[in-house]
Formats: sequence, structure tokens, C-alpha cells
Amino acid sequence: MFDSIAPRYDLLNRLLSFRRDIAWRRRLANSVARHRCQRVLDLATGTGDVLLALAQNNAAHLAVGIDLAPEMLARAQQKLAKLKAPQTFSTIQADAQITSFQNNSFDAATIAFGIRNVQNVSQTLREIIRVLKPGGRLFVLEFSLPANPLLRAIYLAYFRYAVPAIGGWIARNRAAYAYLNQSVEAFPYGPKFCALLSAAGLIDVSFESLTFGVAAIYQGVKSCG
Ligand SMILES: C[S@@+](CC[C@H](N)C(=O)[O-])C[C@H]1O[C@@H](n2cnc3c(N)ncnc32)[C@H](O)[C@@H]1O
Repeated sequence: MFDSIAPRYDLLNRLLSFRRDIAWRRRLANSVARHRCQRVLDLATGTGDVLLALAQNNAAHLAVGIDLAPEMLARAQQKLAKLKAPQTFSTIQADAQITSFQNNSFDAATIAFGIRNVQNVSQTLREIIRVLKPGGRLFVLEFSLPANPLLRAIYLAYFRYAVPAIGGWIARNRAAYAYLNQSVEAFPYGPKFCALLSAAGLIDVSFESLTFGVAAIYQGVKSCG
């Protein structure tokens, strides 16, 4: 599905989020930068926008983006080259649920709008924890739903009807953009997603809501014990 929408993926992200997606990834990169992370793994990197944000914010010395979809990765490579990102920024085709990275090899892991899309969320979280160094930090950027009932109703109307229509028109794939709202509505967010991170074994789990609660950044730390 992601290969088929790859040519229009970035354009639709900007359009459908009114460019908030750029600000959300920048905030994610700033959070990573605050923790002085040297080696960062970006899972489900797609067209590489998190890698770009990390490079633009000097948030990592080395960053590896992994994704299953070759067409998405091809765009990530082009964008990294265009930005003249450091040579230490790269992409690899790999499954976030089972990677070939060694244990304890990254200071931080990021995953933006990706955790909702993997087949096995718990397995992916276990894999992330395996490759994080003790004390390493996971940052998850994901959609959520506004708590305010009025905002929520307006947002759901937009998400359920306008997003698939615009996605169908521009990306010629209405199903992919109908899947977006269905997957977001079915996926845990806020305290429920924090509980999932804690159950996976992360400590100091927290989240911050973004843009009236339509997205959130979650953090959790791999224990040193
Ligand atoms: C909505 S896109 C997010 C892309 C990017 N992180 C961003 O911020 O725009 C979701 C990505 O998850 C990838 N994906 C889904 N399952 C995956 C898996 N098991 N391993 C790696 N990538 C996966 C898809 O190929 C797709 O590129």
C-alpha cells in the first residue's frame, strides 16, 4: 500500500495536516536533541522526514532509517542527498519487527506514524527495546483523537469523509486514506498507549499532546537494570 502512494505521500501529508506534520516531526527531533543522542534508529522511516528533521536539528551524529517499502525508501534517499545530510545518515530495507542490529546499539529510537502500521506492535516494541542501549529512549509520534467532544466530532468528520476523498483524488488510492482514519480510530492513544509501552518494559513513560490532541509524542526509557 505504501509503495503505491509513495509518489504523493509527502504532498498529502502536508495538505491533509495543514503542514502540522512538519512541526510535529521537528518537535520530535528537538526532543531527541535534548537527550544528546549519538546513534538513532528511525523505524518505519517511509520517505525519511524524521531523518531529515534529525539532520536539520543536529539531533544525532548517526541515524539509520528502516522501512519495508522500497518506493518510500527511494524517496528518503533522494531527500537525504538533496539536503546534503551527513554521510552517517542512511536507510536500509528492513522489518521493524525483527532487525539484524546488535543488542544495545542505539541511544534512541524514533517511530513516526509507524507503530500503528506494523503487524505485531508488542513484537516491534520488544525489538526496539532489544536494540536500545540501557538508558536509551524511544520516541513515538502518532495520531490521537481530541478529548474535547466538539473538536473530536469535527475532526472525525474531516478524517472519515474529507481525508479519503482528497487522498483518493490526489493519490488515486481512496482505500489507503480510508485505512488511515480506520487504523487511527482503532489504535490505543494517550494513557492506553502509555500502558502498552510500560507493559513492553519501558520506564518513565510519558506523552505530550500536539495540536488539540490530534497527535501525540510518547517517550519511554529502557531500564538499566
Ligand atoms: C505512515 S508511514 C510513516 C512514514 C514516516 N515515518 C513519516 O513520518 O512520514 C508508515 C510506514 O511504515 C512502514 N512499515 C509498515 N510496517 C513496517 C514494518 N514491519 N517494518 C518497517 N516499516 C514498516 C510502511 O512501509 C510506511 O512507510
